[in-house]
Amino acid sequence: MTVLITGGAGFIGSTLARALLARGDSVIGVDNLDPYYDVSLKEARVATLTGNKNYAFHKLDIADREAMQALFKSRPDIDHVVNLAAQAGVRYSLVNPYAYTHSNIEGFLVVLECCRALPRLKHLVYASSSSVYGGNKKMPFSTEDRVDNPISMYAATKKANELMAHTYSHLYRVSTTGLRYFTVYGPWGRPDMAACIFAKAILEDKPIPVFNNGDMRRDFTYIDDIVAGTIAVLDRPPAIGAEGQPPYKVYNIGNHSTEPLMRYIQLIEQALGKTAAIDFLPMQPGDVRETYADIEPIQKDCGYQPKTTIDEGVPKFIDWYRSFYKR
Ligand SMILES: NC(=O)c1ccc[n+]([C@@H]2O[C@H](COP(=O)([O-])OP(=O)(O)OC[C@H]3O[C@@H](n4cnc5c(N)ncnc54)[C@H](O)[C@@H]3O)[C@@H](O)[C@H]2O)c1
Repeated sequence: MTVLITGGAGFIGSTLARALLARGDSVIGVDNLDPYYDVSLKEARVATLTGNKNYAFHKLDIADREAMQALFKSRPDIDHVVNLAAQAGVRYSLVNPYAYTHSNIEGFLVVLECCRALPRLKHLVYASSSSVYGGNKKMPFSTEDRVDNPISMYAATKKANELMAHTYSHLYRVSTTGLRYFTVYGPWGRPDMAACIFAKAILEDKPIPVFNNGDMRRDFTYIDDIVAGTIAVLDRPPAIGAEGQPPYKVYNIGNHSTEPLMRYIQLIEQALGKTAAIDFLPMQPGDVRETYADIEPIQKDCGYQPKTTIDEGVPKFIDWYRSFYKR
């Protein structure tokens, strides 16, 4: 199959591209190499893919309607699209909310419009987020729960993506699946996420910032599990229902294990062989205390089975971190 991945230079997008190429698919990566974090890391990820004859990369903004339409028109062989391009990060959405409407709303609308015009499209999979659950208290988070109370613009744009996808599944019968990713970590990870922030600070003998005085829990999910799950979903486009219901699904994709943040930090310390100095701070606006994914539907429908505990995943991440940053 031919898969167009937006956000193709990103953490999840580049790892997904590698796995799809390995099984013989053709991949088109699209990314504007946004400077939100170190562009050289994005370029290094793309450089691991460009030698493959089945891979093409296009540097463009998904909100650029004309450029996107021209690209989609030039590749009528595209049969699967994975939209991962987005302005990510909860905290930055309090600083620069417009970046979120640009990429996550305007950009996603362009992707939907391009998809509806694709002659052979079988499935559009797009990234939603565990943040749509906002401050929900009922655990684990289920896709049956109400998610009408976002507490950051990031979460609001991800929930909006689910509504927009539903509209296109209803109006134009585009098969869409939204994936609510839960705290993804591992090799090639994002410098703005906890694992990288902590590893860097510990190695530089600087204190690590820990919010809500360390009383946080996350359903940390290893990148290889995320990629395997995303592919399992990609291969199973939802069908139109017996009573004409739109071909539309939303799944949680997590590890189904909520871990204390302090244990995650201990594993990073152990893997680095160094103790962290911790700067305990109050809860950050927009942030949530706990995430925990109910993954039964994606297990049942797609055979998704996360395999990597944080005890195994954190040392693998640190091995990559040390070798990539030569520390
Ligand atoms: N990593 C996680 O823990 C996590 C959790 C929940 C949801 N998600 C979502 O999954 C997706 C991928 O996340 P990631 O961790 O790989 O993030 P990432 O930032 O590494 O990747 C996103 C990529 O999209 C690109 N991009 C941003 N705006 C763009 C635009 N307008 N046009 C083209 N490219 C653009 C960026 O340059 C970046 O390379 C995102 O939608 C994110 O919101 C990630």
